[in-house]
Amino acid sequence: MLTVTDLCAGYGPVRALEGVSFTADRGRVTAVLGANGAGKTTLLRTVSGLHRADRGSVELDGKPLDRVAAERMPALGLAHVPEGRGVITELTVEENLRLGGLGRAGSVDAADLDRVYTLFPVLADRRAAVAHVLSGGERQMLVIARALMARPTMLLLDEPSLGLAPRIVAQIFELLRGLVESESLSVLLVEQNARSALSIAHRGVVLNLGRVVADDAAEVLAADDQLRHAYLGF
Ligand SMILES: Nc1ncnc2c1ncn2[C@@H]1O[C@H](COP(=O)(O)OP(=O)(O)OP(=O)(O)O)[C@@H](O)[C@H]1O
Ligand SMILES: [Mg+2]
Repeated sequence: MLTVTDLCAGYGPVRALEGVSFTADRGRVTAVLGANGAGKTTLLRTVSGLHRADRGSVELDGKPLDRVAAERMPALGLAHVPEGRGVITELTVEENLRLGGLGRAGSVDAADLDRVYTLFPVLADRRAAVAHVLSGGERQMLVIARALMARPTMLLLDEPSLGLAPRIVAQIFELLRGLVESESLSVLLVEQNARSALSIAHRGVVLNLGRVVADDAAEVLAADDQLRHAYLGF
């Protein structure tokens, strides 16, 4: 379980997070929703050690993450897929995947690769192709698969649906749901596409100007007309 308590962070005078508290349960998808500039990306970057909090704490299964450097996070079970599908385009699909296993304890073996190829057959077919030739949806699958190579217990995803066709988004979300159920993976899913995110999430946390304005079961949020119109855009 990820526990975020009274988290405050910003960029100089800009306050991006102001006292954010919530939990993301084990084996659950927790959606983080809110308009542009609400603080979603800053939240993920602060949890994963890429941005420094001014105040507050983050714990993963009771262990404090506050002073842990970003590069040590995979060894503790936390993987972060940032916005923007950053694959190394000159390397092959398989070489990109192998990089994903570097941060964790133990070396990458064939079983690790087989596992992600079973989850993403499209990547298995293209394992020897340079990532440069992949489509947007395939790249998004590759960055998620690369994160899974570290065998995380907690996966942070920043806008995986951005710019993808609805069919591909549905495919990726379906796969995430399967992983959460079969491997008791926990996912913190940042999305602009609130309707899709709430369709696979168990819970949702809604941010506005760096503060939590709602935190409830996904179906409760999806049924709240006022909240949807004010913050979720659907
Ligand atoms: N590097 C930065 N320097 C200064 N201000 C920043 C920086 N990054 C983000 N901010 C500001 O912090 C606030 C929160 O931004 P953040 O990127 O976390 O929002 P977001 O919810 O992810 O938005 P989006 O949906 O557009 O991705 C915004 O006011 C933004 O302008
Ligand atoms: Mg963002």
